[in-house]
Amino acid sequence: MSTIALTSGTLPAGLIALPGVYQPQADTRFLADALSHEDLGPHTEALEIGTGTGALALHAAGRGARVTAVDVSWSAVVTARINAARRRLPLRVLHGDFAARTAGRRFDLILTNPPYVPSPQAGLPSRGAERAWDAGPDGRAVIDRICARAPALLRPDGVLLMVHSGMCGAERTVDGLARAGLSARVAARASVPWGPVLRSRRAWLERQGLAAEAEEWEELVVIRARHR
Ligand SMILES: C[S@@+](CC[C@H](N)C(=O)[O-])C[C@H]1O[C@@H](n2cnc3c(N)ncnc32)[C@H](O)[C@@H]1O
Repeated sequence: MSTIALTSGTLPAGLIALPGVYQPQADTRFLADALSHEDLGPHTEALEIGTGTGALALHAAGRGARVTAVDVSWSAVVTARINAARRRLPLRVLHGDFAARTAGRRFDLILTNPPYVPSPQAGLPSRGAERAWDAGPDGRAVIDRICARAPALLRPDGVLLMVHSGMCGAERTVDGLARAGLSARVAARASVPWGPVLRSRRAWLERQGLAAEAEEWEELVVIRARHR
């Protein structure tokens, strides 16, 4: 397992973020690195689920892909639109839940860094910055929906790239995608220091058996799945 660099040349520089919008972090950069190994171009119709600042969507658009991005947060949608305009890159940014906003459409590539941090509350937050990371007690509330929906969103041979914490179960994601009919594997693993959100819920995570005592490093995984 590698420790990933906390800065990377693969993401667009100088992005703005309105208050409450998830700033590109280690997970964003890790997914950008995975994306740089994919064959992208004008022939690629891509979707980013949960775009935040638009960093990943703009990375793909900068390589010629035709990109649609979706986010439940209006602040994120406005941020991504501003960042696209400032960089003069074409990006279609939709507001709402990814499943509702993409009904009937299919893509060659889906990118996603979804909310994945296990949280004590059973339900998902309906507002606030926490919407970017809180994902229910096992961290899988959004991941499982994406796994179930992926086959309907991908064209034949289309690829899904998803980053999440090993804490919510890489094998569960691979199995979920396989059950949905995709061929899936863990494409990359990295280890990053715990951030403030994990540190703030350390006692709860330890009680749930999701973290060992004094653990300070989190495994990130990139899952790559292909529509057969
Ligand atoms: C971890 S952040 C990732 C942001 C950005 N892609 C990045 O990597 O820096 C997750 C994003 O998903 C959005 N989100 C959460 N639930 C969603 C849903 N059901 N449909 C669309 N977007 C969602 C959040 O608002 C947030 O912007």
